[in-house]
Amino acid sequence: MHFSLRYIFLIQAFSLLTSCEKSEIEEEKIKIEVVHVPSVCTQKSKRGDLVNAHYDGFLATDLSKFYCSRSERDGHPKWFVLGVGQVIKGLDIALMDMCPGEKRKVVIPPSLAYGEQGYVLDKIPPNATLIFEIELYGISKGPRSVEAFQQIDMNNDNQLSKEEISHYLTEEFRKDGKQRAPSEHGRILTDIFKKNDHNNDGIISAKEYNVYRHDEL
Ligand SMILES: *[C@@H]1O[C@H](CO)[C@@H](O)[C@H](O)[C@H]1NC(C)=O
Repeated sequence: MHFSLRYIFLIQAFSLLTSCEKSEIEEEKIKIEVVHVPSVCTQKSKRGDLVNAHYDGFLATDLSKFYCSRSERDGHPKWFVLGVGQVIKGLDIALMDMCPGEKRKVVIPPSLAYGEQGYVLDKIPPNATLIFEIELYGISKGPRSVEAFQQIDMNNDNQLSKEEISHYLTEEFRKDGKQRAPSEHGRILTDIFKKNDHNNDGIISAKEYNVYRHDEL
């Protein structure tokens, strides 16, 4: 099974775009323009998938760029679980049914973005319509799946030790081909345990790992 960067979910790498006003009114529609479709499409994104994408965000009023995922995280595309509110609602919708390699330009109404409040941190004014240029790189099975757990759990003792997760990180880092300092490896490992090892016993149990299971579907 293709095993992708699930550790990103472990460390809960929520983006700037996480905060999302859940709007009951969804009369305003998203406009999706497909800019490029690859000739071969082996799978399409669906809710619960772990997707890897770059997206740049612009304000519709003056086309100024307020967000560029390419300049975040050393240019690594962003990983997130699709359709569960890790990004604004409009992006959760805009990235559905997309092939890896596909590019879209989408226009998201405020009710599916930051609403009447806007988002000060990203300098998004109230009632802002947003435009995103999206490129989807990869799709994989959602995180926190039984398969993901079993793959990290090399000795099958139904819990994840520091060694197992460290090994997993090493393998994942190797896959994306970018050099990382040992200190970064250590920092991520520490962060994973800080956020997942709730009883601080140095082990992530199946129960602790599955905290977000309800987010899947
Ligand atoms: C945002 O839109 C709502 C609904 O149309 C309106 O009541 C409100 O005054 C607007 N806010 C601003 C700051 O324009």
